[in-house]
Amino acid sequence: MPWREKLIIALDVSESDYALKLVDKFRDQIEIYKVGLELYTSAGPRIIEELHKRNKKVFLDLKFHDIPNTVLKAAIVAARLGIYMFNVHTSGGVEMMKKCRDSVTELCLKENLQRPKIIGVTVLTSLSQQVLKDELGIQHGLRTHVRHLSSLAFNAGLDGVVASGHEVSLIRNHCGKGFIIVTPGIRPSWTPPDDQHRTMTPKQALREGADYIVMGRAILAHSDPLKAIELISLDMLTA
Ligand code: C5P
Repeated sequence: MPWREKLIIALDVSESDYALKLVDKFRDQIEIYKVGLELYTSAGPRIIEELHKRNKKVFLDLKFHDIPNTVLKAAIVAARLGIYMFNVHTSGGVEMMKKCRDSVTELCLKENLQRPKIIGVTVLTSLSQQVLKDELGIQHGLRTHVRHLSSLAFNAGLDGVVASGHEVSLIRNHCGKGFIIVTPGIRPSWTPPDDQHRTMTPKQALREGADYIVMGRAILAHSDPLKAIELISLDMLTA
């Protein structure tokens, strides 16, 4: 796959006008945009329509985590927006994930829609082993936990998971080739440390076997975002 089909830009801004300015600036480079909590809360479904008007694909990153009925209803609304991908928390359980997948599949067949890819969030890339143990009370190791949550997603019939680059090969070995792995927490060598803990460079993540990498601040906060994309694409090309 060409690098453009693997790089997802996180539009983590609150103004839709600003978001669309960025999209127009990156129009020849970037094909997939992630709309997350900040932008969606501010701009709502209109931002998705605007991205579609520009022929861009949308990864709706709202990380649904609720009872099965609530998640499946939200997922149906999301699917009708024509998005490319959305996600749910694997810790919401197998029943929730299965019902979400089944309802969306049924809807898309009935209404002749393209079924969005449904991705499970495993352990956030900002969480460390220590936090998992001390705050969330999870006694086994982080990798074991990620593998466990990935298996739940796989068994529930989801298309893939979101996971840090450090767990990609583990998931790949466990869930096989066709299972999509979306990897955030990507930091090119020039970025300073921040809240993300389990980071990797674009090249490393692709070498590990990530299908998509998600990048926000390393591009958006760069003094020259187009230059940052160029450097990242070069890094990706050598993976
Ligand atoms: O700015 P940065 O590159 O850290 O942005 C990463 C994006 O990926 C953020 O929008 C964040 O919400 C998202 N994300 C993440 N870890 C996950 C799932 C999504 O960092 N497990």
